[in-house]
Amino acid sequence: MSIDVNATFQADTAAARRAAVTEVVDGLQGSQILAIATSVRAMVADGKSVCNLTVGDFKPSEFPVPEKLVAGIHAALEAGETNYPPSDGILELRQAIADMYTRDLGLDYGPGGVIVCSGARPVLYATWRMFTNPGDKTVSFLPAWNVGYYAHLCQTDHHFVPTGADTNFFPTVEQVKAILPDTRLIVMNSPLNPTGTVIDKDVLTGIAQAIVDENNARGDAPPVMLMWDAVYWQLTKNEHPFYSPVQLVPEIAPYVVHIDAISKGFAATGLRVGWAVLPDYLQAKMKALIGHMGAWAGRPEQIATAALLNDPEAIREYNTWIKTEIDARLDTVYGAIMDMKANGLPVDAIAPQGAIYLSFRVKLPGQSNEDIRIKLLEGAGMAVVPFQAFDLREDSGWFRISIGAVSKDELPPMLDRLRAVIQAEVTS
Ligand SMILES: Cc1ncc(COP(=O)(O)O)c(C=O)c1O
Repeated sequence: MSIDVNATFQADTAAARRAAVTEVVDGLQGSQILAIATSVRAMVADGKSVCNLTVGDFKPSEFPVPEKLVAGIHAALEAGETNYPPSDGILELRQAIADMYTRDLGLDYGPGGVIVCSGARPVLYATWRMFTNPGDKTVSFLPAWNVGYYAHLCQTDHHFVPTGADTNFFPTVEQVKAILPDTRLIVMNSPLNPTGTVIDKDVLTGIAQAIVDENNARGDAPPVMLMWDAVYWQLTKNEHPFYSPVQLVPEIAPYVVHIDAISKGFAATGLRVGWAVLPDYLQAKMKALIGHMGAWAGRPEQIATAALLNDPEAIREYNTWIKTEIDARLDTVYGAIMDMKANGLPVDAIAPQGAIYLSFRVKLPGQSNEDIRIKLLEGAGMAVVPFQAFDLREDSGWFRISIGAVSKDELPPMLDRLRAVIQAEVTS
C-alpha cells in the first residue's frame, strides 16, 4: 500500500502552506504567456479551431531542428557519452562557440570567455546573480520578455522604462543616459521578443558609448553591466543585421554579457543548450554559479551542438531555410493586416525585422486588451498575447503574434476570420 502523500496536507490551510515558502518565492508569478497558451490548448482539445500564435516556441513538424543535431545526439548517446560534462561546458563546444563569434561577428573571446548551460535561462539568471545585490538599481525597457521575474528573484530596485512604436519599441540614447546613474545592470534584447524588431545600429552605438562614458566616470565604484540577450540573433531579415554592442564600441567589452542559445536560431527549444559569452575575467565566477545550480546542458547535446557549430555550411543552409519559412508566415500576416488598414479597418503592425514575432495593433476605443484578446480568440480563432504579458501595462491595443507553432495553410483562413471580426466591430 502506498501513502497518499498529498492527503497529509489537507488539514493545512492555504495560508499556512504559503507561509512555508519564502516571501520571494511566494511572490513569484508564473508566466502569463504560458497561462494563455494553456487555455488555448484546452480549447483545441475541446475541438475548437484555433490558430495558436501565442507561444515563443516551434512546432517540430513545421520547424524541425537541423538533421545534424539529431544525428549527433544519437551518435553521442550510442558512444556512451552520458557522464557529467565540465560545469562550464565541454571544451569542444566552448571552442566552437568562440569560433562562431569570431567568424560571424568578428569578436575573439576564445573558449575561456564561454559558459555553456541548459538553454539561455540559466546564464540569464546567473548574470542577475553575479551583478546585483538586493536593492541595487536595475533597468530594462518595455515591452520585454520575463525580465520582471528575475528582478523579483534578486529583489532589485527595478526600473521599467516604457518605449513606443515610434522607436520600434527600443529606448532612445537619451532615455538610457537619463537612467544610467547608479544603475548596476541593464537588460536589453535584440531582435526583440515580443515585437519582432531589431535595434538601430546608430542607437545601439550611442547606448554602448553612454555606458562606457558612465563607467569611465565611476572611478572605483562598481560599473554598470549590460546583459545583451541575443537569442534571436541568427533570425534577422537581411536588411536588419544583428550587432553586438562590442562590435560597435569595443571599449564596452568588459561590461557585456551575451546571452545566446540554439533554442531559437535552430528551433531547438527542448534540447536545452545555451551559453553566455563574456570577458574571461568573469568566466570562473559564472562557472561556479552554473556548476552549483547543476544547470549543465546534456553531454550528447553539447557534442552534437559543437559538431553543428563547426559546420558553417550546414548552418548557412539551415538558416536560409528557417528564415524563408519564418518570413513566409510573418509576411503573410503582415501583408493581410496592412491590407485591412489600407481599407480603413482600425488595425496596424510593424514590418517584421527579426525573431519569430510581429507587433500587431487593434484600436478599438473603450475596449481593453483583454476584451480584444477574447474577441479575437472566440470570434476569429486567433490566439495572441497582449503586451501586458511583457509588462507594458497600458491598454495600448498592441499584441504579440508568434508564428513558430503554425503552418502556412492555417494563416489565410484565420486572417479572413480576423477581417470579419474587425469589420463587425466597426459596423456595429
Ligand atoms: C528574449 C529571450 N531570451 C531568452 C529566452 C530563453 O531561452 P531558452 O529557452 O534557451 O532558455 C527566450 C525564450 O523565449 C527569449 O525570448
